[in-house]
Amino acid sequence: MKYKIIKFSIIDSTNNEAKRIVSSGKAVPSVILAHIQTAGRGRYNRKWEHGQGNLYMSVLTPLECHLSKASELSFVIGLATYEVVDTLCNKIDTIGANDNITNNIKLKWPNDIFIGNHKLGGILLESITHTNQTWIIIGIGLNLQKAPTKYSVSLKDCGVTIKPDDILNMIIESFQKYKQMWSLRGFSHIRTLWLQHAYKLGNQVNVGDMNSSITGIFESIDETGAMILRLSSGETYNMSIGEMFF
Ligand code: BTN
Repeated sequence: MKYKIIKFSIIDSTNNEAKRIVSSGKAVPSVILAHIQTAGRGRYNRKWEHGQGNLYMSVLTPLECHLSKASELSFVIGLATYEVVDTLCNKIDTIGANDNITNNIKLKWPNDIFIGNHKLGGILLESITHTNQTWIIIGIGLNLQKAPTKYSVSLKDCGVTIKPDDILNMIIESFQKYKQMWSLRGFSHIRTLWLQHAYKLGNQVNVGDMNSSITGIFESIDETGAMILRLSSGETYNMSIGEMFF
């Protein structure tokens, strides 16, 4: 699929812009990039902090499967982002500057990217329907230059210097590759690859939402992308929505 690239120096939110494009009735598959976001949003409507020089992009793509399978795209884009970050960090590793970054790049269920125990970026998946066509918006925020909080990390902190416009092209290319793999081989293949980089797999984790949480061993993800937790009772619990606190 060919994506139209649309760039802004400043915008409220690239995901909002994607929604406006769909509402205008003139949507085509697009990638929206902004250098500054004044109202960036994270999951659960949290504010997504703006750090100068970071990546703010949204992929706008028509829904080509059942809506219930659209969340699989967050694993597809997660793998693409992982691959790009890994490639960039590997270049640094081969010149001996830091040889354990690449082993510490992880995908945190359901859609964050971590280096060590710090967040490098996040993904916000949304959908919007206009005249019978549903579109999926995949928003990606990645700390290239600046880690906005003490819980986050930037690629610059890892010795990697890359501009938003350059990493955008790498992510689109890798996304196309994994999206095709998803169409040809199905989610089970994506799931297997994703699990190879899963943060805290096999460890005790606490997952939930604003209201409740549950603790167990992170055993796997199931065929829908839900997290499989082994509880202290020995039973398993499949968690389809929520986030992992530790
Ligand atoms: C999260 O970790 O909560 C998801 C963060 C997603 C942030 C990106 S930045 C580009 C796009 N536009 C937004 O307003 N949000 C996403």
